[in-house]
Amino acid sequence: MPSIIGIESSCDETSVAVLKEGRILSNIIADQRVHAKFGGVVPEMASREHLKNIVPVYKVALKEAGITESDLDAIAYTNGPGLLGPLMVGSSFAKGLSISTGLPLIPVNHMEAHVLAHFIEEPFPENDFLCLTASGGHTQLVLKKGDELELLGETIDDAAGEAFDKIGKMLGLDYPAGPEIDRLAKAGDGKKFGFPIIEVDDLNYSFSGLKTHVLYYLRDHLRKDRSFIEKNLKDLAASVQKTIVETLLVKMEKAAMKKKVRSVGIAGGVAANSALQKALSELCDKNGWKAFTLENQYCTDNAAMIAMVGAIKFRQGNFGDLDLVPAARWKF
Ligand code: KG4
Ligand code: ZN
Repeated sequence: MPSIIGIESSCDETSVAVLKEGRILSNIIADQRVHAKFGGVVPEMASREHLKNIVPVYKVALKEAGITESDLDAIAYTNGPGLLGPLMVGSSFAKGLSISTGLPLIPVNHMEAHVLAHFIEEPFPENDFLCLTASGGHTQLVLKKGDELELLGETIDDAAGEAFDKIGKMLGLDYPAGPEIDRLAKAGDGKKFGFPIIEVDDLNYSFSGLKTHVLYYLRDHLRKDRSFIEKNLKDLAASVQKTIVETLLVKMEKAAMKKKVRSVGIAGGVAANSALQKALSELCDKNGWKAFTLENQYCTDNAAMIAMVGAIKFRQGNFGDLDLVPAARWKF
């Protein structure tokens, strides 16, 4: 089994991981606090943070894994999709490492890696597997049939994580607001504000309507009572979270029924949401499906999932070269 170093830099986490003999020996993740006040990731600031972090994170990943460069067989890195500047930093580092060590390069698709993160520690399922990948940039329903991944549906506008973050910003929360909404919602009443579940065609999603609805709702109530948000913060958080979770799972259930799938999982940053995990487990109990959830370090962006896909591609002999340019948009 190959020893792979994984490098992830598609958004605002700089991460390096080591996979050896099918086990993750280290998965170092440096997140970036600089975006907190802006309500979202500022691409140029993200690139600069990656530049600062990449070498120290790489060194710590090797040290924690207890290996040296000479123990490695290949370098897997995120080639896209993601923010172009941040992708350039990770891919350039990977290429430099490849030149200095002579190790082969393996470009990895970030969205494929989110889905396959489920099998870092679990064996591949024998049957078809349906994954809902919900992050700050994407919301996708993906069917894994053998080695093939098929995109069944996706958001036509904002991503689910983006809805958490943008609505969180309206509520006065720092970026990323998802984890804070999750925390506040634990003490809130999710039924207090009946926000709408936006319905779009087929297995696609839309979240921008919810964002606009909450914006006007808050504006109208703030006119009458300037401390409306303050007084209702926990209930607002719980209501927003409940609406997003229900929107996500309605389509997931529809997709699983349509494709007759019995193994379903959630991935991406939003998969760390406790209400989504609970609702998925209830949905699976109701239908007799097996639920796949992930520990938090494998939900949000991480290099372990990149190293894992790297190991699969290594066995397939699927390598890249120095000329490959990172792709901000890249379908699997
Ligand atoms: O996968 P990820 O780390 O980065 C992207 O590829 O986008 O996802 C980040 C997103 C952010 O929008 C963040 O608010 C959301 O995941 N997120 C959560 C939670 N933890 C992270 N959303 C809801 N509840 C959480 N516990
Ligand atoms: Zn991601």
